[in-house]
Amino acid sequence: MTESAAGSPVNTPHSAKSPAPRAFPMSAVPAAPGRPKRVRVHHLREAKERGERLTMLTAYDYPTARIFDEAGIDLLLVGDSIGNAMHGQATTLAVTVDELVIAVRSVAAACERSLVIADLPFGSYEASPEQALATAVRMLKEAGANAVKFEGGKRVAPQVRMLTGAGIPVFGHLGFTPQSENLLGGKRVQGRGDDAAERLCADAVALQEAGAVAVVLEMVPAPLAARVTEILKVPTIGIGAGADCDGQVLVWLDMAGMGDWAPRFAKQFGQVGTALRDAARAYADEVRTGAFPDRAHSFLE
Ligand code: KIV
Repeated sequence: MTESAAGSPVNTPHSAKSPAPRAFPMSAVPAAPGRPKRVRVHHLREAKERGERLTMLTAYDYPTARIFDEAGIDLLLVGDSIGNAMHGQATTLAVTVDELVIAVRSVAAACERSLVIADLPFGSYEASPEQALATAVRMLKEAGANAVKFEGGKRVAPQVRMLTGAGIPVFGHLGFTPQSENLLGGKRVQGRGDDAAERLCADAVALQEAGAVAVVLEMVPAPLAARVTEILKVPTIGIGAGADCDGQVLVWLDMAGMGDWAPRFAKQFGQVGTALRDAARAYADEVRTGAFPDRAHSFLE
C-alpha cells in the first residue's frame, strides 16, 4: 500500500510492482501436513495409495485460477466446458485449440501449486496420435500446461501411448463424453447395463495400460465408478460418478453458484452469482446517486 495525494491508502498500481503483477497476495502453500508444495503427476498415484481424495475444478482465467490455487485445489482443468460455461455455447464442439491455448496460458500463469491440465478440444486429437501430439505440444509449449486430457477409451489408447512416450501426462475421460453428445443422444448417464459397464471397465484399463495418469469418470452410476476405482491403480476423478472415486471435479461455476442452473450432481458451495449481482447493483446505485467516486477514490491534486 502507498499513500495517495489525499492521504488515504490506495493499492499500489501493478506497474509499480516488480517483477510480475499479482492480482492477489502470494499464498503460503496450503499447510496440510504431507501435501505437496507443487502437485506433480507422481502425487496422484501416491494420493490414491494413501486414500487421500484429490480435488479438481475447472478454471478458465487468471483471477479465478489464482483463487483456486490459493484455496489448495490440487488440479485445475482448463476444460472445453469453456464453450458452455464461459462462451455461452450449447455444446463444447465449437471450442478451438487457439481459444484453449489462451485460457490455459492464463491459468498456468496463476498457479503456484495446482497441476494445470489442458483439455484437447473436439477435432484436435481423434484423427491420429500425431495429431494429438501436435495439439498437446501446443498446450505445453505455448500455454504452459502440465498435462492434457481428452475423451475416449480404447479408440484413443494409441494417442495416450504416443503422448506418454513424448513425456506428456494424459488424463483420460470416460462415461458421458460431451464431445460425443450427438452420438450419445444427449447428456445421459453412461455405463448402465452389464454390457455398457464391461465396456467402460475395459476402456479404463486400456487407458491405464497406455499410460494415462488418471481417468475422469463423468455421469456414471456410483457402483460402476467404485468398481473402476477398485480395478485401476491410477486415480479416478468423478463428476456425477458418486463418492467412491479417488477425487472429484466440478465446473467451477456450478460449484460456486455462479449461474441460474447447475446439473443435479453439482452441489453449490457458494452463491457467487448473487454476490456479484449485488456488487454490480451497489456500484450502479452509487454511480447514479453520485456517492461514487468519493474523495477517498479520487486524485484530489
Ligand atoms: O471440460 C470439462 O470441464 C470437463 C469436466 C466436466 C471433466 O471435461
